[in-house]
Amino acid sequence: MYTGFLHTHKLVVVLFLLIYLLKAILLLTNKKDTLASFTKKVKIPEMIISVLFLATGGYMLAQLPEIKTLQWVKLAAVFASIPLAVIGFKKYNKALAVTAVLLIVAAYGLAEVAKRRVEKVAVADEVVTNASAANYDALAHGKALFNANCVQCHGQNGDMQKVGAKNLQTSQLSDTEVQNIILNGKNSMPPYSKVLDGSEVDALVQYVKSFRK
Ligand code: HEC
Repeated sequence: MYTGFLHTHKLVVVLFLLIYLLKAILLLTNKKDTLASFTKKVKIPEMIISVLFLATGGYMLAQLPEIKTLQWVKLAAVFASIPLAVIGFKKYNKALAVTAVLLIVAAYGLAEVAKRRVEKVAVADEVVTNASAANYDALAHGKALFNANCVQCHGQNGDMQKVGAKNLQTSQLSDTEVQNIILNGKNSMPPYSKVLDGSEVDALVQYVKSFRK
C-alpha cells in the first residue's frame, strides 16, 4: 500500500514537473498565446495531478517514523513553489516562474538525498562487536544492530511493516538477497552500504533470518 503510494507520488511529481517545465519554456520564449492555450488544456489534468500529489505525499508523511530536517526543507520548497508558479505563469513573470520550477527540482533532489542519507546508531557498549573475539555472538550483535537501526520500520518482531516494510517473519529471501537489500535498499528501505561493515551486515542477515518461524 505505502509502496504503491510512493510510486504514484514519484510519477505525479514527474508529470507535475514536466508541465511546469513546458510552461516555463513557453514563457521564456515569449510564446504567450501557446502558453495560454496549453494552460487551458492541462487545467483538468493538472488539478488531478495536484490532488494526487498532495494526497500521496500527505499519506506518506503521516506514516513516516520521523521527519528529517531535509524533508522539512523539501516541504518548504514545495509549498513555496506552488503560489510562485500560479502567480508567475498568470502574470507572465519569468523570474517567479523559473524560481518555482527550480524549487520543485530542488525538492525532488532533496528527497533523493534525504533517502540516501542514513546514519548508523551505535549499539550498547556491552555488545561484543568484534567478529574475531572469542566471545563474539553474531546473533546478539545482529539483534543489537537491528534494535538500534531497523525497528522503526520493521518492529522488534520484524512484522511491523511500517512505510511498506516487508514482514521479516514471512520473508523468503536468500542470504545474498537479504544482504543486497540491506546494502542497497529498495523503495523506502534505506541503503546501508556506507554505514555498515561486512561483519555488521553478516550479523544482521543472521538476526533477520531468526525471525522466520
Ligand atoms: C525507513 C524504513 C526502514 C528501515 C529503517 C529499514 N527497513 Fe528494511 N525494509 C523497508 C522496506 C520499505 C522494505 C521493503 C522494500 C521493498 O521490497 O519494497 C524493507 C525490506 C527489508 C528486507 C527484505 C524483506 C523481504 O522479504 O523482501 C530486509 C531483509 C530488511 N528490510 C532488513 C532491514 C534491516 C536489517 C534494517 C536495518 C539495518 C532495515 N531493514 C531498516 C524499510 C526499512
